[in-house]
Amino acid sequence: MHPATFPILTTERLTLRQLSIDDEQAIFALRSDPKINTFLNRPLCTTAEDAINFINRVNDNIEKGNTYYWAITLTDTKTLAGTICLFDFSNENNHCEMGYELMTAFQGQGIMKEAAQVVIDFVFQTLKFRKILATTHYGNQHSTNLLLKFNFVKSLEPDKENPDLNIFTLTQ
Ligand SMILES: CC(C)(COP(=O)(O)OP(=O)(O)OC[C@H]1O[C@@H](n2cnc3c(N)ncnc32)[C@H](O)[C@@H]1OP(=O)(O)O)[C@@H](O)C(=O)NCCC(=O)NCCS
Repeated sequence: MHPATFPILTTERLTLRQLSIDDEQAIFALRSDPKINTFLNRPLCTTAEDAINFINRVNDNIEKGNTYYWAITLTDTKTLAGTICLFDFSNENNHCEMGYELMTAFQGQGIMKEAAQVVIDFVFQTLKFRKILATTHYGNQHSTNLLLKFNFVKSLEPDKENPDLNIFTLTQ
């Protein structure tokens, strides 16, 4: 997808937009903070270059149609509060997966609930998938709470590759 056609989503408080290289510091913070990454099994950023490479990879994958990846920003101040993304699109199974994270300072304010709502609407109304998956560590209570607020349903079987992960599904 060409950057000009990337979907900017808005809510009462938020503007969800594409990442740019200018977000390097925020992405570094999100992907290096041990607290934010407690339940996330992913390589951490240790240098500014890691963050720049990550942003470039994300934007390449957007162009290839493999992902939608939004910076969640506060419309009033333009501050980047977190990110939310869609990936693993499957036409065969009519589903995609959603991932999300917030800077510690922006947790506990209903920001992800607001962002996830507009992204879920985007999946069902614009992409027209019937199902959204989300996997989260069984100990990740904040993430589990978020999913339950939208009536995601926990699968009886955990993730095959990592039994510590619960799989949640929201069907339209
Ligand atoms: C998962 C995560 C995004 C959830 O963030 P969050 O801020 O708890 O989520 P919400 O936006 O739904 O906010 C809910 C909280 O805001 C409070 N809140 C305050 N104002 C609110 C409002 N206007 N509307 C709704 N909730 C509001 C709620 O009471 C709730 O607080 P509580 O958790 O103390 O009950 C966050 O914990 C996070 O980034 N974790 C690290 C990364 C991660 O694990 N990502 C998930 C990977 S699967």
